[in-house]
Amino acid sequence: MTDFDTLKRALLDRIHAAQTVADIEAVRVEILGKKGEVSALMRGIGSLDAAARRERGAALNILKEDIAQELQTRKAAIEYRDLNSRLAAESIDPSLMPPRQAFEIGRLHPITQTIDEAVAILGEMHFKVVEGPDIEDDFHNFTALNIPADHPARQMHDTFYLPVGADGQRPVLRTHTSPVQIRTLQETPPPLRVIAPGRVYRSDSDITHTPMFHQIEALVIEESIHMGHLKGCVAAFCRAFFEIDDLPLRFRPSFFPFTEPSAEVDIGCSRAEGVLTIGDGGDWLEIMGCGMVHPHVLTACGIDPERWQGFAFGLGVERIAMLKYGIADLRTFFDSDLRWLAHYGFSPLDTPSMIGGLSP
Ligand code: PHE
Repeated sequence: MTDFDTLKRALLDRIHAAQTVADIEAVRVEILGKKGEVSALMRGIGSLDAAARRERGAALNILKEDIAQELQTRKAAIEYRDLNSRLAAESIDPSLMPPRQAFEIGRLHPITQTIDEAVAILGEMHFKVVEGPDIEDDFHNFTALNIPADHPARQMHDTFYLPVGADGQRPVLRTHTSPVQIRTLQETPPPLRVIAPGRVYRSDSDITHTPMFHQIEALVIEESIHMGHLKGCVAAFCRAFFEIDDLPLRFRPSFFPFTEPSAEVDIGCSRAEGVLTIGDGGDWLEIMGCGMVHPHVLTACGIDPERWQGFAFGLGVERIAMLKYGIADLRTFFDSDLRWLAHYGFSPLDTPSMIGGLSP
């Protein structure tokens, strides 16, 4: 079969002479293609007798496989050579800005931003962030906060109740962040200053209410805290948050079972021509509840109210976010609309800090 060996060598030489991937493809078609040389040889064996046909057929099949294998090897070698020369020729300049679409930076939700700002402001005043569970028991959400069973204040809360548990108790979705006051007082010996931001739930849904919303609770317990500290702290917070140094504030007597005395805080605003503007304007807008921690609350947590006292306040995050950032409709907060988030969201790279003011 020397004619075969010669043929094979000639074919391999042509494969080795190929310099590009395109050359390889051309050679492959010439040799193995339907109208190629090996196919012609295959057709030629039809005229041979059975024994010679079998022998030559088998040899041609081996030749075909060898050629196919060699084409593969040569192609891989060419590709490897091309890649190496590309790598040697190309260089990367890491100081160049990537194209804009190469990195889509997400936006912080206004709720997150508002909580971060409040934490930055109150953090400056040495408040520490604490958390509590969204699913609460009756004791923490109500009883320890001086809201006994059958107290009318329970009705004010439109509570979501969960099914009765193994202990015979009905857990609730917390109706406010005040239960975190109780958990903190049970675990941390005073003096203490904490803030508890988080989700709260009330069975209420209309233009100005969503069944889930956010509050920030603040609690201070020290030996000589009085209402003046409460007023000073709330005023400093509001003025820093709204970035209005002379923001008018009004403390209106109110009632909460867990504070005595209690007050609601209004900030000055104007509603001229239907446009709400924060600041001096002769009108008022309620933004939070507050008061001096009721002695019953301290007693329920094993703290001596003769020695310790303090204040607490609780505010609605959506409400102050809407006011500061001009968001008109509460329900849009929870629509998960990316266009809305692109417009009202915040850059994650501008972390709120009191250094140099709040604004990025
Ligand atoms: N927990 C009250 C509410 O949800 C707010 C509040 C907190 C009032 C702390 C006084 C003190 O309405």
